[in-house]
Amino acid sequence: MISSGTTLDWRCQALQDTLQTGLPALQVQALGSVDSTSTRLLELLRQDATPRLLVAETQTQGRGRNGRVWFSAPGASLTFSLALPYAPVDWSGLSLAVGVALGEALEPLPPGQAPRLQLKWPNDLWLCDAPGHWRKLGGILIETVATGSGTRACVVGVGLNVLPRPDLQGLRDLRDLSTGHACVQEIEPTLDAPGLLWRVAPALVQALVRFETQGLEPFAAAFARRDLLRGQAVATTWAAAPTGQADGVDAHGALRVQLPGGAVVMVSSGEVSVRPLDRSSLAPEA
Ligand code: BTN
Repeated sequence: MISSGTTLDWRCQALQDTLQTGLPALQVQALGSVDSTSTRLLELLRQDATPRLLVAETQTQGRGRNGRVWFSAPGASLTFSLALPYAPVDWSGLSLAVGVALGEALEPLPPGQAPRLQLKWPNDLWLCDAPGHWRKLGGILIETVATGSGTRACVVGVGLNVLPRPDLQGLRDLRDLSTGHACVQEIEPTLDAPGLLWRVAPALVQALVRFETQGLEPFAAAFARRDLLRGQAVATTWAAAPTGQADGVDAHGALRVQLPGGAVVMVSSGEVSVRPLDRSSLAPEA
């Protein structure tokens, strides 16, 4: 079964044939509705380690980072997950590499052009309206699980807003949504959810294959170019570094944060969340 209960034309068999050039055993499936594509693939990984891409038109229990709920309206979002046995040299920085793959696929940039689509460490895609003004376009949730024979597998979950939210149209000042709302059709008005999957899935597969052997290094320059937080005043949920100024990432993808006193600390993604601040909220220099 490759599609079940769907209303959109995902062309799963053709997509599977395309993606198998990078991941030979990959199975692609589309569902009309599921609790969560990532939850379902984690369950399947307990049975076998077949690489799978699962896209769903509706998720009834979509999950975001840090235990948050991921809301998406049918047809208005792309929600999919990719599961595969995975043994990278170094896991750190994987969400950055995935973000770069999605960003470059959605908004390829000629040299010298400033990106509109930016990456908010460690795993969000945001659209920049003007310096310091962003709205969230999508997110990435990466989970890992032990498989039999001592190996690990990962599930990369991707949620991207495709259409404007009808309830928000006409509202530019989205104070009711802490992250605002941006959608892919603001970049490419003709892309629908299946078209978007066809656009990003090959780039994602290619990036995962590359990251497994080469780590973050080949993605570092592209991340730096789209790094939303660089130079921004930030607040973190880590008590040792409540506020500071973001200063790029290190070779392992940890966020460099310069504290008000001048010291620089590395913040690893884990459960720390970071948000840009108005510069006026930074503590004064010691
Ligand atoms: C975040 O920004 O918090 C990450 C959101 C990730 C959402 C995607 S949608 C497809 C996959 N299935 C889920 O339940 N979550 C991820």
